[in-house]
Amino acid sequence: MKPTIQKALNKQINEEMESSYLYLSMAAYFEDQNLAGMAQWMKAQSIEEVNHAMQLYTYIVDRGGKVELQAIKAPQLSWKSPLDAFNGTYTHEKHITKCIHDLMDLATKEKDHASTAMLQWFVTEQVEEEASTSEIVEKLKLIDSAPGGIYMIDKELASRPMPQLQLAPAE
Ligand code: FEO
Repeated sequence: MKPTIQKALNKQINEEMESSYLYLSMAAYFEDQNLAGMAQWMKAQSIEEVNHAMQLYTYIVDRGGKVELQAIKAPQLSWKSPLDAFNGTYTHEKHITKCIHDLMDLATKEKDHASTAMLQWFVTEQVEEEASTSEIVEKLKLIDSAPGGIYMIDKELASRPMPQLQLAPAE
């Protein structure tokens, strides 16, 4: 694997771990607000991000590269409202989409076909990530902070199943 690709993939591991930490911080904010369903949704999202990081980790190892972890920056600790927090999630996912597209452009430029094939999964996943977070933002805008509406959305988000932490790829 070319050093430019290895460096960029390691940077993306850091982005995914930073996403996980940010969503765990949002979970803690929701726990504090007694919104257990929203906290559950964020904890599930946080685990998914670690799984994304691990997919990249495993790929680097499989290609004979070296995983080099970097510091994760401290996340924001509080938000003005559930809408503010989920807006933050949606904005962050758009940032991650750009990171993935930049990585794909690099892999294409370097003619690294294995990396473009691997990254295609992330390109598709980001469409889903943006769609699901934008849908929650739109619902929260509709209810316009009415307590009954917040309670209803909190109950709905509580149904998100908790994903398995996958330190190795699923067989
Ligand atoms: Fe791993 Fe939510 O992007």
